[in-house]
Amino acid sequence: MKRYLVTGAAGFIGSHVSERLIDAGSEVVGVDCFTDYYPREIKESNLERLRSSDRFQLSDADLASAELDPLLDGVDAVIHLAAQAGVRASWGRSFQTYLDCNVRSTQRLLEAVKGRDLDRFVYASSSSVYGQTDDLPMRERGLTCPVSPYGVTKLAAEHLAVLYHRNYGVPTVSLRFFTVYGPRQRPDMAFHRFLKAGLLGQPLEVYGDGSQTRDFTFIDDTVTGIVAALHEGTPGEVFNLGGGGSVTLNHALDVIERLVGRTLDRRYGDQQMGDVSDTRADNSKARRILGFTPETTLEDGLAREFSWVAELYGHQST
Ligand code: NAD
Ligand code: UGA
Repeated sequence: MKRYLVTGAAGFIGSHVSERLIDAGSEVVGVDCFTDYYPREIKESNLERLRSSDRFQLSDADLASAELDPLLDGVDAVIHLAAQAGVRASWGRSFQTYLDCNVRSTQRLLEAVKGRDLDRFVYASSSSVYGQTDDLPMRERGLTCPVSPYGVTKLAAEHLAVLYHRNYGVPTVSLRFFTVYGPRQRPDMAFHRFLKAGLLGQPLEVYGDGSQTRDFTFIDDTVTGIVAALHEGTPGEVFNLGGGGSVTLNHALDVIERLVGRTLDRRYGDQQMGDVSDTRADNSKARRILGFTPETTLEDGLAREFSWVAELYGHQST
């Protein structure tokens, strides 16, 4: 039986990855320190199904300071998802948290795994490492020039992963996720906010004129890519995992409007510092090496997220 360490296991992506591994018969050691970026209550509900499995255990520990060796006992592979996420909140004083959770924690974990016999160390990187570019689709070998402090920390940790592979043979694989959505999406992210506002008949704020594009990726597709990387990912390499097609935010809002069955109260505001205009993944490397082919349409994925949002906030609509 394989045993995995999943960091950030109580979060959006980490809870889904852990469930997929448990469902496949593996053991999962989850670690999460329940940062206050969003309520613990939401993270506890992410863990509900996992807590009923005797092959899942969770350690409430901060990767920036905890002793890491005990967490790694008997572990075959690491999936490192823990981070301070959120592009627009990474300016100013909060940058220290981004440094601790994204750079320092990753470096500590890489130090702790060096010399261990691991199958893979999969690191959650981000489309934000590319920054503002007209060179679309984004290719792994293209320029990386982040425009948010968050993107800078995600890229720094990606470089650390490559260094620990080259110098210590840690089998790191970095996956650049593109705006992931679906049930359990973080409450600061666009679709979560928009679906909630649609459900409750509240106004929503669009940053800019809504013409920005994103290669939105449904959570199940991202998880499939992560699991494939555990087996097929080439150590030392970086892979894009995009949803398979970019759309404008305005288009996504139209889809949401049809789903919620009412006109959205769209308030157009200022563009935010750190946001890029467009993301679009070239998935060809992931397709070739990981067999990655995203399958979920935006309509189906948003319908799945809406069901979850309705369950979460439905009681507030009466
Ligand atoms: P999330 O905030 O839901 O999950 C991250 C979890 O990590 C949280 O539960 C948090 O408590 C935990 N954590 C943070 N710092 C920690 C530390 N020092 N020690 C222990 N636990 C810690 O975020 P998510 O959306 O699930 O993102 C997961 C990963 O994927 C992150 O690395 C993020 O940068 C990356 N990513 C996400 C997206 C996306 O669209 N959601 C896109 C690109 C990359
Ligand atoms: C997302 C994640 O939040 C990051 O953690 C991740 O690293 C990044 O994807 C990535 O792909 O690398 P983002 O694309 O900003 O970042 O995702 P959303 O928060 O869902 O925003 C999507 C778009 O909607 C952005 O243009 C944003 O400005 C806009 N938005 C967001 C609004 O117009 N209004 C809002 O209330 C929230």
